[in-house]
Amino acid sequence: MEFNLKKLSTNDGQEIYAMLQEIPYNENGFLNDMNGATLEEFQAWLIKRDNESKGIGIGEGRVPQDIYWLFANGFPVGYGKIRHRLTKKLLDDGGHIGYSILPSERGKDYGKLQLKLLLERAKEMGIDKVLLTIHINNINSLKAAMKNGGVIEKQDENKCWVWIEC
Ligand SMILES: CC(C)(COP(=O)(O)OP(=O)(O)OC[C@H]1O[C@@H](n2cnc3c(N)ncnc32)[C@H](O)[C@@H]1OP(=O)(O)O)[C@@H](O)C(=O)NCCC(=O)NCCS
Repeated sequence: MEFNLKKLSTNDGQEIYAMLQEIPYNENGFLNDMNGATLEEFQAWLIKRDNESKGIGIGEGRVPQDIYWLFANGFPVGYGKIRHRLTKKLLDDGGHIGYSILPSERGKDYGKLQLKLLLERAKEMGIDKVLLTIHINNINSLKAAMKNGGVIEKQDENKCWVWIEC
């Protein structure tokens, strides 16, 4: 199996669009706002996200964020987001990295691998320590974070704050 991350591009097309239709809109706090969107809306979204990654036209209270698609043997099987820095809100909820795997491709170690590759990108971006906020009942994500060196800093009745040295 060959795995690689590919950064979102305004040229992304049908295969990415199709994947985004299979990933739920909001799952454990991971927001996939392209679920249910039209192809035209997707194309406008790509431009917006590409600009956001470059720090252009950032919405109120947001920070630049990069989106990466995970490809397994040339097929997209998931995606992740890396925020360039934390805000007070992200420190409380959201963290640096969010990630998801296509429901039909789960349980194959792709989640762990995607997180590992995203951590490598974060390091290249100069982030030394990454925060993930993980719902307390999201056992698979907690396991993926622990396998990647995660340390639970604290938890409340809803979520855990997990830090990973890049
Ligand atoms: C969290 C998520 C990315 C994990 O992806 P995945 O590819 O299924 O995970 P992996 O195959 O890498 O497995 C991670 C751990 O979960 C376990 N796991 C995965 N699927 C499982 C299943 N169906 N039953 C039992 N355990 C399972 C694995 O065994 C592994 O634990 P281990 O290292 O102890 O073996 C995926 O479930 C997902 O996209 N969830 C929705 C979005 C989300 O919650 N994102 C995280 C936000 S913090």
